[in-house]
Amino acid sequence: MIIKIPALKMVVLITTIKLFTVVNVLAQTVIPVETANNAMVLQVAKNQDVNIIYFGKKLINQQEYSEIQRQYKQSEDYTLQLNSAYTSSGSRNLAEPAISVTHADGNNSLDLKYVSHQVKAVANGVSLLSVLLKDPIYDFEVTLYYKAYYNSDVVEQWSVIRHREKGNITLQKFASANLHIRARNYWLTQYHGDWAKEMQPEESKLTHGIKTLDTKLGTRANLFQPSVFMVSLDKPATEDEGSVLYGGLEWSGNFRTDLELDPQDNLRIISGINNYASPYVLKPNTDFVTPAFWYTFSDHGKGDASRKLHNWARNYKILDGKGSRLTLLNNWEATYFDFNETKLTELLKDTKKLGVDLFLLDDGWFANKYPRNNDHTGLGDWQENKQKLPNGIASLVKEAQQNGVKFGIWVEPEMVSPKSELYEKHPDWVIKQPGREEYYYRNQLVLDLANPKVQDFVFGILDGLFTRNPNLAYIKWDCNAVIYNAYSNYLGKAQSQFYVEYMRGLYKVLARIRAKYPTVPMMLCSGGGGRVDYAALQYFTEFWPSDNTDPLERIFMQWEYSYFYPAITSSNHVTDWGKQPIKFRTDVAMMGKLGFDIVVSRLSATDLQFCQEAIKTYNSLKQIIWQGDQYRLANPREGSVASMMYLDSAKTSGVIFNYLVNNRYDEKSRLPVQFKGLNPALTYRLTEINLYPGAKSSIETTKVYTGDFLMKIGFNPIVNSGRPSVAIRLDAVK
Ligand code: GLA
Repeated sequence: MIIKIPALKMVVLITTIKLFTVVNVLAQTVIPVETANNAMVLQVAKNQDVNIIYFGKKLINQQEYSEIQRQYKQSEDYTLQLNSAYTSSGSRNLAEPAISVTHADGNNSLDLKYVSHQVKAVANGVSLLSVLLKDPIYDFEVTLYYKAYYNSDVVEQWSVIRHREKGNITLQKFASANLHIRARNYWLTQYHGDWAKEMQPEESKLTHGIKTLDTKLGTRANLFQPSVFMVSLDKPATEDEGSVLYGGLEWSGNFRTDLELDPQDNLRIISGINNYASPYVLKPNTDFVTPAFWYTFSDHGKGDASRKLHNWARNYKILDGKGSRLTLLNNWEATYFDFNETKLTELLKDTKKLGVDLFLLDDGWFANKYPRNNDHTGLGDWQENKQKLPNGIASLVKEAQQNGVKFGIWVEPEMVSPKSELYEKHPDWVIKQPGREEYYYRNQLVLDLANPKVQDFVFGILDGLFTRNPNLAYIKWDCNAVIYNAYSNYLGKAQSQFYVEYMRGLYKVLARIRAKYPTVPMMLCSGGGGRVDYAALQYFTEFWPSDNTDPLERIFMQWEYSYFYPAITSSNHVTDWGKQPIKFRTDVAMMGKLGFDIVVSRLSATDLQFCQEAIKTYNSLKQIIWQGDQYRLANPREGSVASMMYLDSAKTSGVIFNYLVNNRYDEKSRLPVQFKGLNPALTYRLTEINLYPGAKSSIETTKVYTGDFLMKIGFNPIVNSGRPSVAIRLDAVK
């Protein structure tokens, strides 16, 4: 095919290349982004386009990457751009763009050409490739970044956009990443949900055209859909087999991921901030930095992909990912808004009695003119309610200390109640449309974090609490409302920047908090799992997966979250949701970061004894659960038994949680559960733990088994209606 380039443009193009780079045009520079097992390979084409020529398991011989293209005889790509590393719009492109721009002179075209690239080692095993692209006509450039974490096979991709045009330009679309994948078929696993129904998976075969995963909610952005997804190549991947890509955006606001099965049957994935209602005006000489899109890839199934991702998350991403966490007693479901100092003093004693590390005081402790006695009032007025807490938080922190436990507190600092002093004083700080009727989500509105004054206010809430109570040991940061009637009084005519500036404002506040209080554990909560992503988790130590704590539901939800987030980040509380006995509920909550939200004083003596012992057991196992490798052994969606295993890196200690998830007559674990990840040559002893007082284990502890046996044949945990929840400790025998 002949491409006609007008003579004038050609001259400009060549001069630009001469100016910016020394490239061997004929050799077609190949730039592989390699990790331990995988490669994403870029190539500079003869016309200086940067294309993706390969995505998948890496080749032994790098020279062969440039041979790949010749093996494909797919239909014609008229644009020679379907595999662009960052697809521009308005010139030759006919597919979904990664970037779309209106220049200062009103022109909508963009063509990005290779200028240069460099690779830097940024940490041990972490490299950063940057590729500079420039438009030959306009003084407009994009740098693509690829941060490769070699050992964990994770890559983060983002772009930085800047220009030196004679006026402002408008970014109509500004994605973080653009992938191009070749396979025989593509199977998408996506998630949907709502309050108390988080992480519902759906798997479907991608068909031609575009499948979009997105949110436009602004805050609590994941209420209906999180950005995490999987794509299996050729056929649906299973736990241990198949090629699968996992991806997600490091952004807590509106995201958009387009999965386009193109005319050549290849998959283009374009992910970034959602450009919905957000054309972004960019001044000259200003960097627009997009958030990172992370991805990992495995040709050994979902389990391998998630273990690599967990390691990456703990080592590089989550705040204090390699550190410790606090077990706790929360009072939300125990008291709701109905408490006072006397009640809380009792709960502090119960915290000690139970044996957890911390008491977490939830919603309802603040506001005086409009007391926070229900969810209609008081958000924004972060002074202790004098009736409930006449001696303030300080006395509770002290009281906690006297009881030998730590004290934590709930805040929802981004929000405001229509009935609050804050709203009365600063109506201009509230997100609402001037002249339109207010519309509420959970009876509240969102503060305008695009406004620096609001950022100071929100920072001040936390800073004030810590300054007055230096021993405050934990924060639960909630975010219950979505944004309706998006309008920022502060931004004036620049409303289209709002969704982006809100998130930037939030991250600025969180960065300030972390600069001053680097280690205090904070739980990320959003009416459940309405905000869970790897941008937020750089500031938070854990998240609240769902308000739904019915343990049966949680088995399924925690299962899905576990593909993307390590157990150390998952706050699981024992509550009164569900019909299962306390043992079942506690076992399920142990599969992450254990907490309780029950009335301890109402527990029977044996229930209490069980909990106390279980907490001690958890303390002896938590390092394995938090830092070990997680193996999904039996999928609750595929049978009547769910089984999840955590194994330390030496493969000598582990714990396996097993549940009956179907109460049909005589249902039980009919088959052995096959273990994974063990050392076949080692011999292991299996001991049932978390036995209810007086209960006898059906498991023989005198017998030992080789890792070989446990992996090839397996072990029957003897799960049945009389033993619906069975936790087993595994130890190598010396
Ligand atoms: C949200 C949270 C709950 C609780 C309430 C308090 O719904 O998810 O855990 O903190 O707010 O109002």
